[in-house]
Amino acid sequence: MKDCSLLSTCVFLLLLLEITASSGDTRVVNPCCHYPCQNTGVCVRIGTESYSCDCTRTGFYGENCSLPELWTRVRLMLKPSPKAVHFILTHFQWFWDVINNSFLQDTFMRLVLTVRSDLIPSPPTYNSKYGYLSWESYNNLSYYTRLLPPVPEDCPLPMGTKGKPVLPDPKELTEKFFKRRQFRPDPQGTNLMFAFMAQHFTHQFFKTDHKFEAGFTRALGHGVDASNIYGEDLERQHQLRLHEDGKLKHQLIDGEMYPPTVAEVPVHMVYPESFPNEQRLAIGQEVFGLLPGLTMYATMWLREHNRVCDILKVEHPTWDDEQLYQTTRLIIIGEIIKIIIEEYVQHLSGYLLKLKFDPSLLFNARFQYSNRIALEFCQLYHWHPLMPDSFLIDGDEIPFSQFLYNTSILLHYGVEKLVDAFSRQPAGQVCGGHNSHAAVLSVAEKVIRESRATRVQPFNEYRKRFNLKPYTSFYEFSDDKEIAQGLEEVYGDIDALEFYPGILLEKTRPDSIFGESMVEMGAPFSLKGLLGNPICSPHYWKPSTFGGETGFNIVKTSTLKKLVCLNTKWCPYVDFHVPRNEEERKPRKPSTEL
Ligand code: HEM
Ligand SMILES: *[C@@H]1O[C@H](CO)[C@@H](O)[C@H](O)[C@H]1NC(C)=O
Ligand SMILES: *[C@@H]1O[C@H](CO)[C@@H](O)[C@H](O)[C@H]1NC(C)=O
Ligand SMILES: *[C@@H]1O[C@H](CO)[C@@H](O)[C@H](O)[C@H]1NC(C)=O
Ligand SMILES: *[C@@H]1O[C@H](CO)[C@@H](O)[C@H](O)[C@H]1NC(C)=O
Repeated sequence: MKDCSLLSTCVFLLLLLEITASSGDTRVVNPCCHYPCQNTGVCVRIGTESYSCDCTRTGFYGENCSLPELWTRVRLMLKPSPKAVHFILTHFQWFWDVINNSFLQDTFMRLVLTVRSDLIPSPPTYNSKYGYLSWESYNNLSYYTRLLPPVPEDCPLPMGTKGKPVLPDPKELTEKFFKRRQFRPDPQGTNLMFAFMAQHFTHQFFKTDHKFEAGFTRALGHGVDASNIYGEDLERQHQLRLHEDGKLKHQLIDGEMYPPTVAEVPVHMVYPESFPNEQRLAIGQEVFGLLPGLTMYATMWLREHNRVCDILKVEHPTWDDEQLYQTTRLIIIGEIIKIIIEEYVQHLSGYLLKLKFDPSLLFNARFQYSNRIALEFCQLYHWHPLMPDSFLIDGDEIPFSQFLYNTSILLHYGVEKLVDAFSRQPAGQVCGGHNSHAAVLSVAEKVIRESRATRVQPFNEYRKRFNLKPYTSFYEFSDDKEIAQGLEEVYGDIDALEFYPGILLEKTRPDSIFGESMVEMGAPFSLKGLLGNPICSPHYWKPSTFGGETGFNIVKTSTLKKLVCLNTKWCPYVDFHVPRNEEERKPRKPSTEL
């Protein structure tokens, strides 16, 4: 530069340098960062600046798979919107009263199952490392799968090409939008019995591996395998087993069966360090010491397993321990799926169509009996707003601080009183914002951090993936002005709103626990996982699999009430719904029969 004789020449040269430097710096934007491909078309980058959308079998064509083929046009015209379908399924009692228990019930149930599960690719596709199909992604079960590939690494903005250059601070997000002001009970009447079932049930397949980078799981069964009861690996199973008549180890306290302690069964359980082994309960899932609600369910399933073993043993006196154990496990898996579909999903959905667990409904449909748990499913299932401000048991009010990691609560009150208490206490409304207790706020923060580490695509991209219209503004997304305005401020663009805040803060449907997105995205994952279980396949779904008609009937007639009351001394009020009438509100006495 010192060669410049004239100042003006120098300035000119500098400017020239500046221009060339900056144009060399403006990297070409990866066109897939615009999410150009519609209707599940696949974006493939070509060269540096162009892309192509693979529209194969989407029913659409064109540069962005946005033009419907003739049949798609007809189908779209006839197809009711998710909103309309939901309205019909939750209204017109007289209509559903005719449908329930008629042959049309099967038709509608089959439709619910196929329409929902068709949204889930099977075999699975992407994961957090692979945004394209690969054998490694298919074959390595330690990954959660992904419905949509991650946001490409080289996008100009965190969410692609829209929104702000820096995403809002997760802690600030949870403080501003998630934190509870006043407890808002779920208008559908969900109770804590449901909440703990949700947690107990899902933690058999949601076991994020925190030792590893984000997007990995320790739950290699990828579905309803009852590993929360039996343990993940063979070694843990063997430690938890009695090796006699197929049963599981237990301890008897006042003649009642409870999980054994870690002192007797040395398996790893997560407890505060100071906790003595004599007080740690040994359970299939290592985190279930956290809450009395989880140890309560663990106790009921333990008793149920051993009860079924006794029944099988009577019919099959020649069977060895192994066959009794393995067959009982299949029965337990069947019972779980039955209760989840006919009571848990029935309650959540609010449908007037009576849901039915009957795998044979799908025997003539195109359906794959396999399942892989998705990261998005795990994220959307973080229903921590269900938790109340404190726990009301048998006249006592127990604050969070005394409820967590407190084994003596289960042993002190017993299963009956806990079931009764949890069935009567309302749970919180999940969606709509401002309903997470301070004690669980940090979990929401972690979900948001994890979704960034794994580059989960924007909420609106998921809306499209599930055939929902993307929101056009924050005010359409939320009917709470403060939330809409606040989110607009921190995200800048509705297309940059993140997945988890989108799912949880969305306006709820009228008088509902959830917003539209939670249901329309959660149900497909859920039903695919339940019916994709091997026991639902034609070669498994028959009496011999369950040790004969007796075992098969246990599966086909199982209910939440039987799970509780066949394994307790007296039958408490038990439901996924708070009491609806005077009769149910009456306190139960230890003498009530089933
Ligand atoms: C007082 C009650 C609860 C507490 C203290 C609690 C606490 C936690 C904690 C600390 C995590 C791990 C977060 C992380 O490190 O990423 C977690 C994960 C999770 N929680 Fe809760 N939770 C509670 C109730 C519930 C309930 C009622 C549900 C209902 C569905 C639920 C669903 C989940 C799910 C799906 C995960 C992810 C599990 C995984 O990825 O391994 N939690 N919770
Ligand atoms: C396809 O999407 C790109 C990027 O979003 C857009 O620029 C282009 O106009 C679209 N083409 C058609 C035919 O819609
Ligand atoms: C049909 O099933 C729904 C849901 O279980 C229920 O609310 C309704 O009362 C049922 N009607 C009849 C006649 O069973
Ligand atoms: C799955 O992938 C992870 C990460 O690449 C790797 O550490 C692990 O060994 C793989 N698991 C198997 C069974 O190959
Ligand atoms: C456990 O619960 C019992 C019964 O509610 C209570 O008295 C006790 O203080 C709790 N223990 C801890 C460590 O909080």
